[in-house]
Amino acid sequence: MKTLILSILLIMIFMDVALSQQAKNPYGGDQQAIKEGAEIFKKNCESCHGPGGKGDICPDLTKKNKKYGNTDADLFLTISKGRPGGMPNWDNTLGPDRIWKVITYIRSIEK
Ligand code: HEC
Repeated sequence: MKTLILSILLIMIFMDVALSQQAKNPYGGDQQAIKEGAEIFKKNCESCHGPGGKGDICPDLTKKNKKYGNTDADLFLTISKGRPGGMPNWDNTLGPDRIWKVITYIRSIEK
C-alpha cells in the first residue's frame, strides 16, 4: 500500500513538472508561428477582439498589462480555459499547439 501511495505521489510530481514546462511558449518569436497565429486569430478571435487585436467590444490585446496577467502561462490559461467575463474556452477547438501559435502572434502585436 505504501509503495502505491509513493508511486502516485511520484507520478503527480512528474506531471507537475511536465505541465510547468509546457507553460513556456515553444514557439517564442518564431516567424512561421506568428504567421499561422495571425490566421488562427483572424478566424477565431477577431470578431470579438477586433482587427489586429486592438480591442472592439472586448479587451485590447496589444496592451502589455493584461487584466489576467501576461506571462506565457497566464495567456495559455486565459485562452485554453476562458475567463468569466465572456471569454470562451479554446482547448477543445484549438488544442495546445495552435493556442501557443496564437500567443506567439499576440506577442508580436504587443506595444
Ligand atoms: C465571444 C467573444 C470572444 C472571442 C471569440 C474571443 N474572446 Fe478573448 N475575451 C473576450 C472577453 C469578453 C474577454 C474579457 C473577459 C474578462 O474580462 O473576464 C476576453 C479576454 C481575453 C484575454 C485576456 C485579456 C486580459 O486583459 O487579461 C485574452 C488574452 C484573450 N481574450 C484572447 C483571445 C484569443 C486568443 C481568442 C481566439 C482564440 C479570443 N480571445 C476569442 C471575448 C472573446
